[in-house]
Amino acid sequence: MSKAPVRVAVTGAAGQIGYSLLFRIAAGELLGKDQPVILQLLDLPQAQKAVKGVIMELEDCAFPLLAGVVATDDPNVAFKDANIALLVGARPRGPGMERKDLLTENAKIFTVQGAAIGQYADPDIKVLVVGNPCNTNAYIAKEVAVKYGRVKAKNFTGMLRLDHNRALSQLAAKTGRDVASLKSLVVWGNHSPTMYADYRYVTSNGDKVKALINDEAWNKDVFLPTVGKRGAAIIEARGLSSAASAANAAIDHVRDWVLGSKGEWVTMGIPSDGSYGIPEGIIFGFPVTTENGEYKIVQGLEIDAFSQERINITLAELQEEREGVKDLLA
Ligand code: NAD
Ligand code: LMR
Repeated sequence: MSKAPVRVAVTGAAGQIGYSLLFRIAAGELLGKDQPVILQLLDLPQAQKAVKGVIMELEDCAFPLLAGVVATDDPNVAFKDANIALLVGARPRGPGMERKDLLTENAKIFTVQGAAIGQYADPDIKVLVVGNPCNTNAYIAKEVAVKYGRVKAKNFTGMLRLDHNRALSQLAAKTGRDVASLKSLVVWGNHSPTMYADYRYVTSNGDKVKALINDEAWNKDVFLPTVGKRGAAIIEARGLSSAASAANAAIDHVRDWVLGSKGEWVTMGIPSDGSYGIPEGIIFGFPVTTENGEYKIVQGLEIDAFSQERINITLAELQEEREGVKDLLA
């Protein structure tokens, strides 16, 4: 007997990430090739015509797993009974802007959507925020949603997986090893140039990647700036922010969360439980393993002086962002 469909809400459905994301979800890449899905698509009123066009294309793919599509400009409808939500819809930054320039503009979206999720979604809903600044937007949605006493704070997450994948790819290029051979990377902190991609624990077929590279200056002067500023480099080159790679990272994040990471470490932006001295509740990139739909922070990693310094910088930025939205949450 086929499985009951899972309801996946996607916001910003008419946008460029949406266009890379929806077809892959409908093809079974998010939840498995045996899992039917119902897509619940939210976008602004003026984008509904474009959403219709995307739905026409979804229909034309005749995806066997696509059990239904809802299109709406009403968050209360989009999140109704949703089991998974991908919060993508927000304004992207343009050339010369930093992600925090988006903070006040985009923050309001996440209070409204947090309220809708808190009231109408499946109480076990898993939420991934992609719209920037994604850690703080996830924080806003979580803070608002949990006030209704139904959904779980731990199920509000932000996307660090793009930084994680970018870092993996840089390490593969530097070492000449296959990207698939690289294990145990973590990206700590905020999805911003302050993120700390930490490869001290990475191995490739049993070899320590840190020893293979053996170049601290490369870490500080090339690797971290390259990963941290990759989003800006793509905006500069494309004239638009990353979309296919962002959609791919969103798929990776949710797929591993739901289907399990099989013992491997992955990076998720999650509400801190106080681990590694990160204040509780802040959405912070941590190394996690996932099993049975739950994530667990990898504990006991030594934090050396350089790592602590980097973690402090990215934490300070997140605390500043939290301060910036305090009034919105009052
Ligand atoms: P886009 O402009 O192409 O699409 C955004 C869509 O969101 C549009 O269709 C717009 O109408 C819609 N939208 C705006 N406000 C909305 C609201 N209140 N409710 C529902 N829909 C709304 O942008 P994009 O390139 O798809 O990027 C979307 C977001 O993702 C941006 O904030 C961007 O910065 C962010 N992003 C994050 C990462 C990451 O790693 N976290 C990576 C890339 C992009
Ligand atoms: C990215 O990292 O590509 C996105 O967050 C888009 C951006 O503004 O950098």
